Parts: sequence; structure tokens; C-alpha cells
Amino acid sequence: MTKRTTQFVCQNCGAIFAKWTGKCESCGEWNTLVEEALPEKTPAQVTAGKGGKKLEFYDLKGAPELVFRLKSQIGELDRVCGGGLVPGSVILVGGDPGIGKSTLLLQAVAHLSDTVNKEGRPTKCVYISGEESVDQVRLRALRLGLQKASVDLASATNVRDIVATLDSGDSPDVVIIDSIQTMYSDTLDSAPGTVGQVRACGNELIRLAKRLNFTLFLVGHVTKEGTLAGPRVLEHMVDTVLYFEGDRGHHFRILRSVKNRFGATDEIGVFEMTEEGLKEVKNPSALFLAERRGNIAGSCVFAGVEGSRPLLVEIQALVAPMSGTAPRRAVVGWDSNRLAMILAVLEARCGVIFGAKDVYLNIAGGLKLTEPACDMAVAMALVSALTQKPVPADMAVFGEVGLSGEIRAVPQADLRLKEAEKLGFKRALIPPAKNAKKKTVGLQVTEVGHLRTLVDTFRG
Ligand code: TYD
Ligand code: MG
Repeated sequence: MTKRTTQFVCQNCGAIFAKWTGKCESCGEWNTLVEEALPEKTPAQVTAGKGGKKLEFYDLKGAPELVFRLKSQIGELDRVCGGGLVPGSVILVGGDPGIGKSTLLLQAVAHLSDTVNKEGRPTKCVYISGEESVDQVRLRALRLGLQKASVDLASATNVRDIVATLDSGDSPDVVIIDSIQTMYSDTLDSAPGTVGQVRACGNELIRLAKRLNFTLFLVGHVTKEGTLAGPRVLEHMVDTVLYFEGDRGHHFRILRSVKNRFGATDEIGVFEMTEEGLKEVKNPSALFLAERRGNIAGSCVFAGVEGSRPLLVEIQALVAPMSGTAPRRAVVGWDSNRLAMILAVLEARCGVIFGAKDVYLNIAGGLKLTEPACDMAVAMALVSALTQKPVPADMAVFGEVGLSGEIRAVPQADLRLKEAEKLGFKRALIPPAKNAKKKTVGLQVTEVGHLRTLVDTFRG
């Protein structure tokens, strides 16, 4: 019998099989198995016969050294990273092609090269592009007005060359790999971008980053399903995972941290894509409410919180006569199951009948909301759209709706109220609060216990 020399790796979940099948038995996806050469030695063979080194154990007590952080001077990026870049940490930046990942990171390294590192020397920044030629990156730098920044630029895809280069001479402080899907390791036969290659290249670069103690940014393109298909295998290997999201039709972009070993998750940074690159948005609420027209039925302002930052957004609802054979429920920017639940609660607990009508819900500005605190604002927008009575334009709303129609408390009520007040709102509807400080100057705060109370204000 000849010895098996290849294996089949699922590009979705990374499971390994001896034989090809149309469907991955591990994750159930179709046509995701790709043939790859077997590694010459298994990890067990590599370590066999070698005596391990004895580990040293430590006490839990003892003062940890304060973590030093490099500041990119892009406040939004630094905050999302937990207050700056930690040397030796690895950051995966995911996002749709063309969303602005390369632009953001080029701006970041250009600014970083202007700062000093831990030793007080100028921060040494390296930008390696596997997607664009040196001239293309130069052209972009010129457009962004960053051509004078001292960044070491290279166009390369072979990880062996990259590691050899970074390992010689002065070790860098920040390295950008744009993108991990274009990199290949010549120890594997498979094509760049396959799970095997992404894992091997990622592994090698991450080990180097830890050894030389530089901050490594890995760029990964996202598939249309919104997951980092290939680079997904890297998610547990890296310290921080950031997603760069946004709608091509809108100018603003959101950098969201979904995992961070050096800071809080669910933190967001807001940027605007302009002719001169990405600009920080210091007051996102004003941006998201900029195009709001007052006194229109079906619109309600939600006082939300993303990470540590309050964010006011407009919820828009439209109730229209049924256009097809079955009533349509379409949602942009929110969970459709959650909409179905709110509609059911409105019908069953408050007697508001949407029945054979089409219902559309949109989060203005192309933002995606996940907070349950949004429920009450959604319910108000829906009832307002149905009754054609506008919600007062100076009113901000937040609160979670339970299945019996009760309004439930949500975290950070004070922060939400403060932001509403800052933006000139005069009224707020909030869940019953036990100890929230309701004495916000200039804001009339009303506690709502049940959705029925709200609905009645539209009926009266
Ligand atoms: P890019 O950073 O290349 O995206 P990614 O690396 O995520 O694929 O962004 C490219 C898009 O950004 C492109 O459509 C043009 C636009 N853009 C601007 O609007 N202004 C600019 O100053 C730059 C550099 C790009
Ligand atoms: Mg790019």
C-alpha cells in the first residue's frame, strides 16, 4: 500500500479528512474541502525523544510590569486597541475588500513612524503588501499626503523571505502584513489563501512577532457571509480581532473590536472616508442624526451604547399595504427575529394589529445594532408608522422589551441620558430605574413600565 501524502482540509472550519467528500462532516458546508500536502512530521514526531525543559512556576501576587503602548495618534484606533498598541501583540483586521483596511493601516504606520518607541528611538514601521506593488502603495501615500513618512515599504508574498528580512538588522516596532491571504509558505503545496497556508503563514509571523516583540497587524478579507473564512483559523491565535465595517453607499466606517486580550471588546471607532483618507469622527451621534428630519411618522431616536461610547441613532419604520401574497418583514441593520418578537408582543400584549401589512425597519446611516436596549425605540417607530403619528423630534428612547410587554432595565442608563442631553434632546423615555440618576439638567425623563403605556399615548 502506498503511503498517503495528502489530506483534505475544510476551508470553512479547518477540519481535516483523509478522503474527499462533497460535504464537510464537521460543519456541514458543501464544496469546502481542499487537498493539501501532509506535513512531513506530526507534532508528536517532532518532539519525540527530546526532553522538555523544566518550567518555572510563579506566585499569583506580585506587581505586573505596566504595559507600554505605542500611540498611533489616531485616537479612534488606539481606543479600539485598548489605549494603544502593545509591543508583541498581534492584531487581525478583517473587513470587506475596498472598505479601507489598507488606507487605515497606512495612515497608522505613517503616524507611528513619527513617534518614539519604548527605548526612546523613532518607531520603526514596516509595511508589506502582497496585493499592491510598491508604486501603488506610494501613489496612495501621495494621495494621503504621507509620502514623507519614514516607513519601510516592500511588496512580497513569501513568508520565508519576510521572516528572514525582519529577523536581520534592527528589529521593527510595527509590522503590517496586507493581506494574510496573499502570503504563502513554501513548506506547503496548497495555494495562498487556503486554510492551511493562512494558518502556517500566520503561525510563523506570530511566532516572530512574539520573539522580536513587535506589534503585528494581519489584514484579512472577509467573505460575503461576513465571516473571516480563511483567516478565521487565526482568530484564536491572535490577541486582538478588529472588524472594519461599513456600507459602501455611506461614507462612515466602523472599526469594532470583537476580541481583545489587552482591552475591552465591543469597543468601536468611527471614521469617515474622505478624499484625503480616513478621518476620525469625534462625535458620531451628530453624524448619525445629521440627516434626520423632524416630525415624520415612523422615526424614533434610540440612545445606544457601543462599547464605552454612547451613540444616538435614528430607527426608521414603514408600514405599507401588503404587496405580495404574504406580509413582508424586511430589516436592515437589526435582527429580523427580534423584529418578529416585537411585532408579536405588540399584537398579543398591546392589541396593535399589523396583520396583513408589510413592515420595513431600517437603522439610518447603515449602522448595525445588536443591543436589546433598542427594543423600545423599535416598538415606538413601528407604532408611530402604523398610526401615522410622529414621535416628538426632541425625544430619545431606550429599553428592552420582555415577552409580556414589560420594559426591562438596560446597562449604562446615565451615559445614554447624558449623550441625549448633550445633543440637545429635551425628553427621554427609559425603563423603570431603581437608582439611575434621573436629575439630568434640561432633560425630562419619563420611566415606562409596560409597552401598553407607550401604545396608549399614540391612541390618545
Ligand atoms: P482600501 O484601503 O484599498 O480598502 P481595503 O484595503 O480594505 O481593500 O480602500 C479603497 C477604497 O477607499 C477605494 O474604493 C477608494 C477609497 N479611498 C478614498 O475614498 N479616499 C482615499 O483617500 C483613499 C486612499 C481611498
Ligand atoms: Mg487593501
